[in-house]
Amino acid sequence: VAVFGSTGAIGRRTLDVVERLGAPFRIVALIANRNAQKLAEQVLRFRPDFAALADPERVTTLEHALGRCRVRVLSGVEGMERIAGAAQTDIVVMGLAGTQGLLPVLAALDAGKRVALATKEIIVGFGPLVMERVRRSRAELLPVDSELSAILQCLDGERAEEIRRVILTASGGPFRRVRDLSRVTVEQTLRHPTWRMGRKITVDSASLMNKGLEMIETAYYFGLKPEQVDVLVHPQSIVHSLVEFRDGTLIAQMAMPDMRLPIQYALTYPGRRVSPVRPTRLERIRTLEFAAPDLKRFPCLGLARTALRQGGLKPCVLNSANDIAVRAFLDRRIGFVDIAEVTARTMRRFPDRGRVDLEQLLAAELMARAAAETEIRRGLHSRPASATILP
Ligand SMILES: NC(=O)c1ccc[n+]([C@@H]2O[C@H](COP(=O)([O-])OP(=O)(O)OC[C@H]3O[C@@H](n4cnc5c(N)ncnc54)[C@H](OP(=O)(O)O)[C@@H]3O)[C@@H](O)[C@H]2O)c1
Repeated sequence: VAVFGSTGAIGRRTLDVVERLGAPFRIVALIANRNAQKLAEQVLRFRPDFAALADPERVTTLEHALGRCRVRVLSGVEGMERIAGAAQTDIVVMGLAGTQGLLPVLAALDAGKRVALATKEIIVGFGPLVMERVRRSRAELLPVDSELSAILQCLDGERAEEIRRVILTASGGPFRRVRDLSRVTVEQTLRHPTWRMGRKITVDSASLMNKGLEMIETAYYFGLKPEQVDVLVHPQSIVHSLVEFRDGTLIAQMAMPDMRLPIQYALTYPGRRVSPVRPTRLERIRTLEFAAPDLKRFPCLGLARTALRQGGLKPCVLNSANDIAVRAFLDRRIGFVDIAEVTARTMRRFPDRGRVDLEQLLAAELMARAAAETEIRRGLHSRPASATILP
């Protein structure tokens, strides 16, 4: 197993899962972005064949920290692509934040590997292209997200044409009951009630953009129409998602919230192995609540649906603009409600387009990031008409 993003929340849990599973699973590569010190600690513990940093500037620090440890050190996108396609690699777990993992994922798919994908931004931005590669290869793409993993499990043995819709569940985040979101702080936003995750995805969970990104991801991944993907707020986070069939049957997947479960399922699929996840005692939980999301307070969910309907460049632009806006919020340059505003304004600057290729998407990603930054700098009080950007 090659673990991309081993120093992050997904990566650390993957290492825990692989360690518990034991043989035949083995860590063959550990990859992080810049955190050379933490990566070196992991390398010394797991003794992989390869270690890599996405940021080449940090490689000397890594080599220094590794001392005489015998491991092949690589860097940058090229190094990551080599690891993804290496003979030793059977499974790629992709948990690098952002879309830096796109080319390594494509390399792994082209080499016929199993890709366990946590980084939803890759499918949101480049979904049709990635799914096309999966169809053209003998590779497998498996989701590492509790919601998509739940849908995969609900669909086991079912026919695509019999699906009426899927229902993604959302915990509702820390602001489920907060009426006025204009003054919420970074600290409040980072206090997620159920999940312990990286900072970016925690902010996305609070704005419900995370559910919006999953909505797009689900449609691409399972080949569904935009109107076939719904969202319900379910604060207990026990039901991870549901599928409704044309006869009216609903199948749900339930378990205690623990990311090690979808990670392990993606590794052992289609089999199941004993896991450390606590048993679900429904008699103690007693109540499972469901409610429609409030799109007025959480406009990011509506923006994601619009991007999915419009297709073309729009999901990629939504994803990039949101990424820049979340960073600006974490840096205290904009408020929480401005995340949706920056994203909406950036989306309006891009035209609707039908089919798009990889080059156009990569260009749109860069342009959307720059356009979102411009919107932030311009300030959000004046609302001048924005010019259209044509990538
Ligand atoms: N956490 C969850 O429960 C969860 C659930 C479902 C999906 N996901 C998805 O999984 C991905 C990772 O989430 P996470 O919670 O594990 O994040 P995280 O804890 O912030 O970890 C991010 C990982 O990516 C690296 N990284 C940071 N900035 C990067 C950049 N600009 N380019 C490339 N790599 C970068 C980090 O390396 P350094 O340590 O070297 O900076 C770290 O290894 C996200 O796409 C998220 O949406 C997470």
